[in-house]
Amino acid sequence: MGEKQLLRALKGETLPTPPVWMMRQAGRYLPEYRATRAEAGDFLSLCYNSELAAEVTLQPIRRYGFDAAIVFADILLLPQALGVDLWFETGEGPRLSTSTTPDDIARLKPASDIHDHLGPVYETVRILARELPSQTALIGFAGAPWTVATYMIAGRGTPDQGPAHRLIQQDRKTFDALIGRLTDATIEYLSAQIDAGAEVVKLFDSWAGSLKGDAFDRYCIAPTRRIVQKLRARHPGIPVIAFPREAGEKYIGFARATGADCVALDNSVDADWAARNVQVDGCVQGNMAPRHMITGGPALVEETRRIVRAFSGGPHIFNLGHGITPDADPENVELMVQTIRGH
Ligand code: CP3
Repeated sequence: MGEKQLLRALKGETLPTPPVWMMRQAGRYLPEYRATRAEAGDFLSLCYNSELAAEVTLQPIRRYGFDAAIVFADILLLPQALGVDLWFETGEGPRLSTSTTPDDIARLKPASDIHDHLGPVYETVRILARELPSQTALIGFAGAPWTVATYMIAGRGTPDQGPAHRLIQQDRKTFDALIGRLTDATIEYLSAQIDAGAEVVKLFDSWAGSLKGDAFDRYCIAPTRRIVQKLRARHPGIPVIAFPREAGEKYIGFARATGADCVALDNSVDADWAARNVQVDGCVQGNMAPRHMITGGPALVEETRRIVRAFSGGPHIFNLGHGITPDADPENVELMVQTIRGH
């Protein structure tokens, strides 16, 4: 058994068949996930139950033989570890106590104090490092500082990240202090996941697309670069995947600017354009529209082949452009994997 395919792609190898996994691959579209979540009680209890979190991480690996498993957790566990209140409103999404004033930021716990709270996540990683098949890579993750900050400032998800943009306008010093705290805590969090056995880490900057001009450099590129540098210094050779979702033209040069080994592409980006403009700098991940997992059929097969072909000239990890949705059909995922692997 040679080196894991996903790790080879991340090192820049062009492979005959791209490795494949899916964002949110452990999720509500799978009946076995829904059963385990019910057993845990609710979503957050599942995240903090290491045995069950490892179980749901393994479910899509057993079904589809993906080339990577991503530890089951959530980007909002980190603010919770910093002392923020977090809960999930059924059918609506996350709610948090807000962090918008200098006092709120001062009250956040120091980065070095997050590990007791996040211990169950590290334990999930340790279980997975033991139990995963030898060809499956283990991915740890965190939200990027900007994206996590948008939830902490608004206290919930927002369509345009308005509250965070307003804080930048009205009190940049406080905003910068929050980004600084999150950057430091993210380094500690990812570093501990690597110590526990994560072989790759991914930074989810889901709301990067609403940062324009100079703000994109300050709040997306700069924190990502700092996190990559610090992790590399502590863990030489650790591969980092960055996902500046909806960055558009700013995908160009993103890997060079941040030091990331791989840039994950959302599905608003044309694959041929990205092959010419982004993949020239190294590995890319993506970027099929999640809706094909609902609709399936010949269009799914055609689109899968088109994306594989577009990126066939360089290092590529096949993925969706965003998370698979709860209404997806598990059969369509199988069809996508079979098509990639040429069966
Ligand atoms: O399988 C995996 O990809 C690993 C686990 C994972 C989850 N969330 C589990 C989850 C990962 C990597 C995330 C990342 C995450 N969480 C992001 C960044 C990626 C993205 O989607 O843009 C964000 C913004 C969050 C915050 C979050 N968590 C929201 C906004 C929601 C509610 C929306 C929803 O889909 O219900 C969650 C909940 C969540 N995180 C679920 C899962 C499987 C659904 C919860 C459930 O089972 O009820």
